[in-house]
This record gives sequence, C-alpha cells and structure tokens, in this order.
Amino acid sequence: MIKIENLTKHYHAAQGKVEAINGLNLEVDDGEIFGMIGPSGAGKSTLIRMLNLLEQPTSGTININGTDLTELSSQNLRAARQKIGMIFQHFNLLSSRTVLGNVAFPLEIAGVAKKERIAKAKELIELVGLSDRADHYPAQLSGGQKQRVGIARALANDPDLLLSDEATSSLDPESTKSVLELLAKIRDEMNLTIILITHEMGVIKDICDRVAVLEAGQIIEEGSILDIFARPKQTLTKKFISSVIDFDLPERIIKYVKAERPGELIRISFVGEKTHDPYISDLVKHYSVDANILYGNIDEIQGVPFGTLVLDLEGQLTNIEESINYLQSQDLRVEVLDNV
Ligand SMILES: Nc1ncnc2c1ncn2[C@@H]1O[C@H](COP(=O)(O)OP(=O)(O)OP(=O)(O)O)[C@@H](O)[C@H]1O
Ligand SMILES: [Mg+2]
Repeated sequence: MIKIENLTKHYHAAQGKVEAINGLNLEVDDGEIFGMIGPSGAGKSTLIRMLNLLEQPTSGTININGTDLTELSSQNLRAARQKIGMIFQHFNLLSSRTVLGNVAFPLEIAGVAKKERIAKAKELIELVGLSDRADHYPAQLSGGQKQRVGIARALANDPDLLLSDEATSSLDPESTKSVLELLAKIRDEMNLTIILITHEMGVIKDICDRVAVLEAGQIIEEGSILDIFARPKQTLTKKFISSVIDFDLPERIIKYVKAERPGELIRISFVGEKTHDPYISDLVKHYSVDANILYGNIDEIQGVPFGTLVLDLEGQLTNIEESINYLQSQDLRVEVLDNV
C-alpha cells in the first residue's frame, strides 16, 4: 500500500516561490490502477516524481509497503527505486540501442548477467507484443510501439509499482487504446499497482479503478470511477467528465423548452442495472404522467452502462411531484431542470 501524508513541494525559482504540492494526503491500494487528473500546472508530474524520489519533497512522508522513502539511505533508496518502474510521455528511449538493448538496460545497471538479462528482456518484449521488432531501433518504431518498449523496460526489475506520467498523451487514439489495454493486462498478470497521471478523462474512464482530481497542488475530489462519473461534486471534475460524457442539453432542446413551456423538466442519471428497469412505463401507468423523452445517451464505463435521460413530464402537478418522488426512491439521480 502507498500512503502519502502531508506531502508538500515548494520550488524556489528565480521568479519566486512556487507551491507545486500543498499538504497532499493519499492512499493507494495494492493492485489498483489509480488515476490522477488535473489541469496543466496542477502538480501532477511533481507528485509522481516524488513517488520515486526523483524529486525531493519539501515536507511530508511517502510510505510504500511500510517503508518511508524519505528516510532511506541512498543505498536502500536505490534498491527501493528498482521496484518502482516509470513510463513517460516522450518514451525516453536510448536512440543508439535496439529494442532489446533498451529493455535490457535497467538490468545491466542492476548488475544482472548478460545471458540472464537478454532472456528476461526477450520475455518482456514478447509480453508487450514486439518480438518481431527486438532488433529495431527506436527511430524505426511508431509511437505506440515506442511506448510498449518503455513499458517493457519499466518492468525489467519486476516492480511492485508502475508510475505513468502522461504515457499516452503523445499517441493517437488507436495506440492509446492498445497501450491502456496493455497496462490493464500487466496489472492483472503481474499484480502490480499502477499510478497513472493524465489530463484526459477518457484514459481515466477506460482503465482506472479510482481517481483523484488535482488542482493547485491539492486533491479536490477522489473516489471510484463510477462514483465520480455518477456524482461529481467539484466544477473542475464536472468539466473533465463532460469532455467524455455529454451532459449539456443540445441547443434544439433548450429552444424547445423555452418556446413550448412544457411541464416539469427532469434529468435522470443512472448507473448499472438501473438501465434495464422499466421506470418510464411505471410513471405513465401508475402516476398518470406523460413522459416525453427529450434527450438521452447511454455510455459504458468499464462494462457498466451509464446514462442520462431528459424527460418532460406532463400531467397534474401533484402527479408530477409523486412521480419524481418515485424516481428518487428508485435510487436514480434525479434533477429538476428549472434553468436551461
Ligand atoms: N523545477 C521546477 N522549478 C520551478 N518550478 C517548477 C519546477 N517544476 C515544476 N514547477 C512548477 O510547479 C507547478 C507544477 O508543475 P508540474 O509539472 O508538476 O505540473 P503538471 O500538473 O505536471 O502540468 P502538465 O499537465 O503541464 O504536465 C507549475 O507551476 C510549474 O511551473
Ligand atoms: Mg506534467
């Protein structure tokens, strides 16, 4: 388990003091894929670089499986670092070395014998699906392939923790998808913990178990993916979510609502099983309310249906109120839209 307490990082630049991380607390469980999202300058890279002490914290502790990294001697820190792999946005491969040479490099540093390190590197290259490229140089590879090499290299010393700083930000959507699938497969097969930093909510949605939203060096919201998507609290979180899931009402509906002055307008959000329940026909049958569907979409988050529906309810006011109560009792998130 990773436990970060009261972590602070202040830089002293020529232009003045920069408070990059401000008293941050976080726990990440073993085997989790934990996402960290935030706008540019929020402190994401600073935070992830402190997790392997590439960056020294100003104050606070970083405890990994019971050991406080900030207390380690330089020799013990070197050993601890070998169990923390890292992948980067720009891959950071050695251009003069082949794929095999790049993947074997950390093993060379760790003093592993040649025969053994080549066998291990080959095994990892196979794991990331690049066996036919082992003798190629980075310049001969696509971005997605380069990142696969980066991943294989990060796994060379059998890490317990893999840190990923915008590892898919330079990739096209197709390569992003396949690299994320590879990370999920590695987590499942090797049972390691992944901390993944991104500014793209789509990445979080696809593979993370939990997410924290970082703003100005602090976590402003955190939770499971479904919780955060279904019940975001902070404006910034909502903004990130709306980049992958459309919450805004289309212009034509806003016009219709304003012009036609219909009944009560409600938005229902639902997650999982609820997508199968016949609650709209229940409304019509039991509450004598007409439900006109104005807008809806269903998406999927990691195989769980997730959707939103905008209904115009028409009927007697008391019936409408009762029907809204009924929907709320169904464990759906119901919002009355009085301002569109
Ligand atoms: N070496 C440094 N010296 C001074 N200030 C720094 C240094 N590194 C980062 N900062 C500042 O710390 C803050 C956080 O930077 P950081 O790189 O962690 O942000 P980020 O969330 O990773 O942003 P991005 O999404 O653009 O990568 C920024 O204001 C940045 O300018
Ligand atoms: Mg960064």
